[in-house]
Order: sequence, then structure tokens, then C-alpha cells
Amino acid sequence: MAAPDACIRTRLAGVELASPIVAAAGTCGYVDELADAFDLRWLGAVTTKSITPEERAGNDPWRIIDVPGGMMNAIGLANVGLGRFLAEKVPHAAGVPCPVFGSVAGHSVADYVRVAAAFDANTAFPIIELNVSCPNTATGLQFGDDPAALKSLLAEVRPVVKRAKLFVKVSPNADVVKLSGAAVDAGADGLTLVNTVTAMSIDVHTRRPRLSRGRGGLSGPAIHPIAVRMVHDVYRAVAKPAGVPIIGLGGVLRWEDAAEFILVGASAVGVGTALFVDPRIPVALAKGLARWVRAQKVASLTDLVGAMEG
Ligand SMILES: Cc1cc2nc3c(=O)[nH]c(=O)nc-3n(C[C@H](O)[C@H](O)[C@H](O)COP(=O)(O)O)c2cc1C
Repeated sequence: MAAPDACIRTRLAGVELASPIVAAAGTCGYVDELADAFDLRWLGAVTTKSITPEERAGNDPWRIIDVPGGMMNAIGLANVGLGRFLAEKVPHAAGVPCPVFGSVAGHSVADYVRVAAAFDANTAFPIIELNVSCPNTATGLQFGDDPAALKSLLAEVRPVVKRAKLFVKVSPNADVVKLSGAAVDAGADGLTLVNTVTAMSIDVHTRRPRLSRGRGGLSGPAIHPIAVRMVHDVYRAVAKPAGVPIIGLGGVLRWEDAAEFILVGASAVGVGTALFVDPRIPVALAKGLARWVRAQKVASLTDLVGAMEG
């Protein structure tokens, strides 16, 4: 089999994906770097690193560490900035055989508007995902930790995204149902759940935090059951009634983890930390999901979205 079985095709707000497996923002390079590891036809989509208007060097080391059950990062949005991204990286999107989702970040509403408008003007991106887990320099708070701040952000960004579908990547560090409801009320076409969970790890010999920033985002299998619960709650309270799709992510390592997200209401499944364990993991996940769909005796994976019993 050189490409995913047709039974695992899915769609997100009208965007067709050959596989539900989406490479998550910040874990697979800018655009096409994973192509070194496997044929990207196995992926439903690849998400770009989050892009800010200006180039950013990010935080000092250590900014990625191993912890039991996953990893923690405080990268600090290191990226080449919008200008270089459009000039040097986006041209590679033409050679990618799956959709490319553009991830937007910023430290002010104006930052988000600028990057989102530039992405919307570029047909490379059928979906634009807002990474709202960034501190707003005006308030010191993250946009994605407060429903009112999220609504104000979307009030400015939504009007400039006219062509692409607009997804909001929800922070798990506050009330995800309230945040998701605010995003959908403000016009989001889809939700990505979840970003990393704020955490700390201490070096007991030096008595200092292991990450240079003190705290960072926990990802990997340790957060998977938390993310499943969040997708479940948001699907029932917000996404299903509104008819808005969810990309479920957090700690997917085995195809069963991805299947859990589908059953609680995700239409597609992101994979991030597992790519650091095995960059070819999307192939194994796609094959496992196809076997599962056939064993469940349904025609399509989409028949299993939200099909949890009980
Ligand atoms: C090293 C690293 C860098 C990340 N960078 C970004 C990023 O730039 N933008 C973003 O929205 N999420 C970023 N994330 C979060 C992931 O996209 C994902 O939401 C999170 O890691 C949970 O999924 P996982 O457990 O499969 O990794 C990053 C995660 C890691 C581990």
C-alpha cells in the first residue's frame, strides 16, 4: 500500500484529507522537512511552525527537555518571521502532496492580523490555525487563556481571513469549553485541541528549573487522557451543536490513541511529540486506523466520529 486506505479519508470544514493524521505545529519543521522520513501522501496535512511577523531567535537553552511520559518545551516561538517564511519556505508547499495548514502566532492583535492576512492571500494554505498560546505583551496574559481576550482577537482576525478556513488552537490551561464556545461564537470554522499543558521540572542538584524560562509546555503520552477528556467535553457542548470540526491532539503514540480522539468527536488527529520518537509514525497510525475502521464494520472513519458509546 503506497497511500492510505480510502476508508480513513476525512474532511475538516470542507477541506478533504486522505488521512486523519495531521503533523502538529512546531514539531515537523516549516513545510516539507518530514518528506525526508516518508512519503507525505500518508499524512492528512502538515501544519507549519507558528509564524510571527518578525524573525525570533526564541528562548535560551534549555528549551526542550525529556520528562517521564513526554517532553517539555519553552521554545519561545523561534521562527524565521513572515517575510523569510513566505520567500524561502512557502514555495516548498507546492511539492507537498497533502494540504499545508498555516499556523499563526503573535504578541499583539496586530501581529495576528498581519500574519493571518498574508496567509489568507496565499493559496498554499486551505486552513489557517491560530496558535493563541502566546503572551499578549500589552496585558501579559495569553490570548488563549481568557474567552473575552480570545473573542477580541477573533473580532479583528476573522474579517481578514476570507478564503481559508480559520481554526483556533485551544489552550488546555483554562476552561476549554468556555474558550471553544468563545472561538465558535466569534466565527471559528474549526477547533484544534489541545496545545501543551503548562508544567515545571526542577533539577534537584542545582535546585533550578530545568528549562531556562522556568516553566514550559508538557506534551506526549502524559497529556493524552487529559486531551481526550477535553475533546469529549468540547465536542458535546460546543462543536457538535455548532457543526464545527475538531482536530484532536495530545500524546498520540499508538493508533489506539488516535482512535480514541475520533470516538470522542475529533474529525482528524494531530501528532507532535511522537514524531521525535519516530518521524515515520504517521504511516503506522494511518495503517492501524484503517484496520480498525474495517474491524468496526463501518464504511468510513467518518462514521466513527463521536461514536463513543455511553
Ligand atoms: C517542540 C515543540 C514545539 C511546538 N511548537 C508549537 C508551535 O510552534 N505552535 C503550536 O501551535 N504548537 C506547538 N507545539 C504544540 C504541539 O503542536 C501540540 O499541540 C502539543 O505538543 C501536543 O501534542 P503532542 O502531545 O502530540 O506533542 C509544539 C510542541 C513541541 C513538543
